[in-house]
Amino acid sequence: MKSPYSETVLEHFRHPHNVGAIEDADGKAQEGSPACGDMVSVYIKVDEKTKVISDISFESYGCASNIATGSIITELAKGKTLEEARKITWKEAADALGGLPKIKAHCSVLAIEGLRSAIENYEEKHGLVKERKPTTMEVVRNRLKKVMNPMVGLDLVRTNLVQTIEVKKGTVRVVIDLPADHQFAPAIQEEIREKIEPLWDVNEVAIEFTE
Ligand code: FES
Repeated sequence: MKSPYSETVLEHFRHPHNVGAIEDADGKAQEGSPACGDMVSVYIKVDEKTKVISDISFESYGCASNIATGSIITELAKGKTLEEARKITWKEAADALGGLPKIKAHCSVLAIEGLRSAIENYEEKHGLVKERKPTTMEVVRNRLKKVMNPMVGLDLVRTNLVQTIEVKKGTVRVVIDLPADHQFAPAIQEEIREKIEPLWDVNEVAIEFTE
């Protein structure tokens, strides 16, 4: 049977470039796909002066297309400024891979979103966000959609673990419907902090558990 994948896709799938975490990353993000439930993480190192991406890596929990796209976007983004890298489209990534089956478009979109979110994470941490919209409950809820519930591999919002969100004068309070001594509570707490703390107008993040 003929493979639906180009030779380039298969090559990047078998031997992906720039795989793994960067421990002291300047920006990082994890994105999940609502279409298939798979995830991708992207890590970047950025030259503070030139804003050039000096190093980049990814980890994929997705399919062959996602792994190949993760690999190719690290190649496309390395050496580019944040502004240039942000403009890389899924079509460019798919073209660089010699095409992807249409049904797999969301896999390359996921990798591109991971890259854009890692850039956004860097900009938030470095006070570079231009559009300073106030943090609302909706903003917090959207961020919590990017925190996985490790028990089922879906996000906290979709698995109804978020009981309360409050935003008041720079303090964000989140109540998670799990006992505080649950084995995944520390990991969930850390992930929430990572997602909410960089918001420009947030001074404090209070995370509580229900028991
Ligand atoms: Fe989930 Fe491709 S099917 S990333």
